[in-house]
Amino acid sequence: MFVSNIRIPKCDVRRSPQSPMIDIDPLKSYGFQRVTCSLQKMQTNEKLSVGRMFSVQDSLPKLPVPPLDQTLQKYLRSVRPLLTDDEYANTQKIVEDFKRDPGPKLQTLLEKRAQRETNWLSDWWTNTAYLEFRQPVTVNVSPGVVFPKQSYTDKEGQLRFTAKLISGLLDYKSMIDNQTLPVEKMGKQSLCMMQYYKILCGCRIPGKKRDTWVCYPPDEANPPKHVVIAHNNAFFFLEVYGSNNQPLSIEQIYEQLKNIVNQSMEPDIPVGILTTENRNKWAKAYELLTKDKENKASLQILQRSICVLCIDNKLPESAAGEEDSTAAKMMLHGGGSEYNSANRWCDKTLQFIVGKNGVCGLNYEHTTAEGPPIISIVDHVLDYCSKNENMTTPAPDLKPPKKLNFNITYPELRENLKEAEENIDSLVKDVDLTVFKFTEYGKNFPKSQKLSPDSFIQMAFQLAYFRLYSKPCATYETASLRQFQLGRTDTIRSCSIESLEFSKGMMDPTLSKQKKAELLKKAVTGHKNYVAEAVKGQGIDRHLLGLKLAALQNNMKVPALHMDVAYSLSCHHNVSTSQVPAKYEACLVFGPTVPDGYGVCYNPQEKQILLGVSAFNCCPETESRRFKDSIHQSLMDMKSVLEGSIQSKL
Ligand code: COA
Repeated sequence: MFVSNIRIPKCDVRRSPQSPMIDIDPLKSYGFQRVTCSLQKMQTNEKLSVGRMFSVQDSLPKLPVPPLDQTLQKYLRSVRPLLTDDEYANTQKIVEDFKRDPGPKLQTLLEKRAQRETNWLSDWWTNTAYLEFRQPVTVNVSPGVVFPKQSYTDKEGQLRFTAKLISGLLDYKSMIDNQTLPVEKMGKQSLCMMQYYKILCGCRIPGKKRDTWVCYPPDEANPPKHVVIAHNNAFFFLEVYGSNNQPLSIEQIYEQLKNIVNQSMEPDIPVGILTTENRNKWAKAYELLTKDKENKASLQILQRSICVLCIDNKLPESAAGEEDSTAAKMMLHGGGSEYNSANRWCDKTLQFIVGKNGVCGLNYEHTTAEGPPIISIVDHVLDYCSKNENMTTPAPDLKPPKKLNFNITYPELRENLKEAEENIDSLVKDVDLTVFKFTEYGKNFPKSQKLSPDSFIQMAFQLAYFRLYSKPCATYETASLRQFQLGRTDTIRSCSIESLEFSKGMMDPTLSKQKKAELLKKAVTGHKNYVAEAVKGQGIDRHLLGLKLAALQNNMKVPALHMDVAYSLSCHHNVSTSQVPAKYEACLVFGPTVPDGYGVCYNPQEKQILLGVSAFNCCPETESRRFKDSIHQSLMDMKSVLEGSIQSKL
């Protein structure tokens, strides 16, 4: 069955120039231009099934604006465990005042915006969370993903794996191009597929106060047909389709990669290191760089590429048992100027990284997408790479790879490069990262106890933090808003009144296992309820942000509620977490979001949980290994309590 009247998704991307060599548009007010994608070719293709990628896009609901009173009530509950009695009494008063004024006015402004826009949040979110963020995207914004270690041990194996990976990626891309990717679901609810559409064609561009983001979607007149290969800090244009639009065979890609490696035996000027810089500094250097015509052309080829593939030459020594953490660092920051940080183009949405001795993974720039669509590509590519058969056939009219030249003509640019090297090296030194596998059990155990695995794991983080610091902390967990058109995320506030009671109870030796189990179940249920509401657009953080931005956009003062200590405390996430499940033993890693915090990403599998824990060395109070050990202990204690309470009932 097929649908004759295919609806065209409204796309929030800033449409790219059609020609590969024309100027980048100047900054637009919100970095994006609302355009309707012309997916005309899709309208005549009768082979497409109903499951096609955008078949339900226009019928997805719009993100709601939650009722004001509901948000304020939830907000008060969420800040209670973080405040003293006096602070809480003061916050209650501030909330009461806000409820009278200016809350209702701001709520009306927001509701009007929601009527006008496809998604009242998406442009604001893209700007505040990403494009206006001035710290380096490396570590602070762009997550790394470590793949399971591959079996190659030499350069030939590394290049053969890269060739197969590219071939697998093109196989996946054909489903995006033809829009045959099935619509994803959360339970029975279809999800917005727009992130998939942008992953293999997006790039960030530095700007002095705000970056921009460009996209070269597959339905444009002259869509990108090339990837960029990074080797020894040099970048190469590699066309991956033959003249008839047929993807190159694995063998053909391999031969091209050999050619690239032979052309770049010595380290090149480390231009890529500029993309790891503070965004304002990079924007200044970018302006100088683009004064040269050849540089400008090279930059546009990088920006227009499907993705970047980094073939790394160096891998730091690892202490025994630290190999996974070392691999994760290569994905997160590249190891600094001595290793692979210059062999990257961190503005590009997707960079696959194929390192030495089977170490591989990717890094992605977050403006475009959350982890789950990225992991969907990873699972497909790893499936493809694990198959022995080669289904590819040679494509006609192979074009030779072409080196992208950069001329560092201004002395200031040389200074910029030097400074960027120093800065990434100190950032690398500051990152404390531990990747580990908890193998005692996986999500099968909480399921067997009729508990949500995600909420169970979140409570383990609460207990782990309380065990170390004897206090709770504001905790961020990502909630998907993809049930809505152009939906991205909201915050799940995992620290709650119930989670604090549970943590205190677990550390109290006088409490019985049964009582502890009761507290655990209550905390897990409370968290699960919060999740259920957040994914339905009834979270509080994006709503509160929207109220603040509505005030600013209408020349009003920042409300007292947003200046209150409770608001800043509850947004200072000492523990920032995300669940990113994957079929393979892939683990996502990202940096903490505050200097004295932890970043924790987890992949819960049936019988094990993979975790990546980060902290900053400059903070004497945090240490990733200590937090990891505490999570391990918490997971063990929680199992023991649940099993103990069952036994005591028998
Ligand atoms: N008893 C038994 N099983 C249960 C259960 C219970 N009480 N509650 C849940 N389960 C099961 C579910 O049915 C599901 O089963 P499956 O493994 O067969 O799919 C499984 O346990 C997992 O459910 P749960 O642990 O509750 O989590 P979830 O899958 O609903 O995910 C979030 C929760 C918050 C992670 C998810 O809603 C979300 O928003 N994810 C997006 C995260 C994101 O974007 N991350 C990237 C950031 S870069």
